[in-house]
Amino acid sequence: MDTLIKNEKKTNTDTFPINGTDYVEFYVGNAKQAAMYYQAAFGYELVAYRGPETGSRETVSYVLQQNKIRLVLTSAYHPEHEILKHVNLHGDGVKVLALWVDDAEDAFNKAVERGAKPSFEPHTLKDEDGEIKLAGIHTYGETIHTFVERKNYRGVFMPGFIPKTSTRKVEPVGLKFVDHCVGNVELGQMNRWIKFYQEVLGFKLLITFDDKDISTKYTALMSKVVSNGNGYIKFPINEPAKGVKKSQIEEYLDFYKSAGVQHIAVATDDIIKTVRQLRANGVDFLYVPETYYNDLLDRVGEIEESIEDLREQNILVDRDNEGYLLQIFTKPVQDRPTLFYEIIQRKGAQSFGKGNFKALFEAIEREQELRGTL
Ligand code: FE2
Repeated sequence: MDTLIKNEKKTNTDTFPINGTDYVEFYVGNAKQAAMYYQAAFGYELVAYRGPETGSRETVSYVLQQNKIRLVLTSAYHPEHEILKHVNLHGDGVKVLALWVDDAEDAFNKAVERGAKPSFEPHTLKDEDGEIKLAGIHTYGETIHTFVERKNYRGVFMPGFIPKTSTRKVEPVGLKFVDHCVGNVELGQMNRWIKFYQEVLGFKLLITFDDKDISTKYTALMSKVVSNGNGYIKFPINEPAKGVKKSQIEEYLDFYKSAGVQHIAVATDDIIKTVRQLRANGVDFLYVPETYYNDLLDRVGEIEESIEDLREQNILVDRDNEGYLLQIFTKPVQDRPTLFYEIIQRKGAQSFGKGNFKALFEAIEREQELRGTL
């Protein structure tokens, strides 16, 4: 059952306004090298830094930016530090999905009143560029939502960081903004977390997919998508469903050792160009067989892109009643088969590529087979 709850989409029931994704923070084993990877492979520019030289004796962070997307790569120096314990358990992964709000304290108080588990209390950071207010709540696994209030701040990122630019020449690849962030949760936990976003943040249920929508011969999963009122924040939540073999969600949970962020979808307005550049930079993508393109136009109707270009870059297309979308998925971006990226270009469509699920999951299963985890 794929239910797109269209009419309710525009209704705003947000507990507090959210202006967008402020940043995504990763805990990694080696922030310096991860920062180089995101610059060289994904075309992010280094914009800020915090480390021992700036007074941070325990931790180090690199802030990278491409248009509206801001990534923070954080590591620590000593094995007993919670960041390295996190890395030891989960591998490199997303720790914080930071939400840009007007009033961080109000957001925190309202969220906690509605049942959120606090991560850290509201506090203010100041420097000569102004002040930032931060507060945090827990979500699935060990992931956190940090509320960021930056209306009184003019600096490059936040107090404690110094501006720092790339020493290598960075070629942006046209990534514009975070389209959606997907969480994988344990069997039976999807509805709990959907309810959390509905009750705590006032999000709307956008779409429901059951295992009949998302299954192959071997594996299955279930998914629901929630969104805030302005649609800038979209959080699909997946859980494994029963199949003949191990689903990709179970594989993720086995390797991440808890629920966590499975993929981040980033938007471009020229996917063919973006993917061509990413491939040239060495980014690996999932492979969908040539036959996918044989009946593509019958399935999606007229599109502006040339089928040859799409076939060459192995980009997928899907249509819903509002338009179409183009998408492609990278392979995992760290040793463990956990986090990966989606590159997406929306041409009207507001959905998530249901028509491609089968082809995609078969592609993931081929990778699982190679890893011996199917
Ligand atoms: Fe996605």
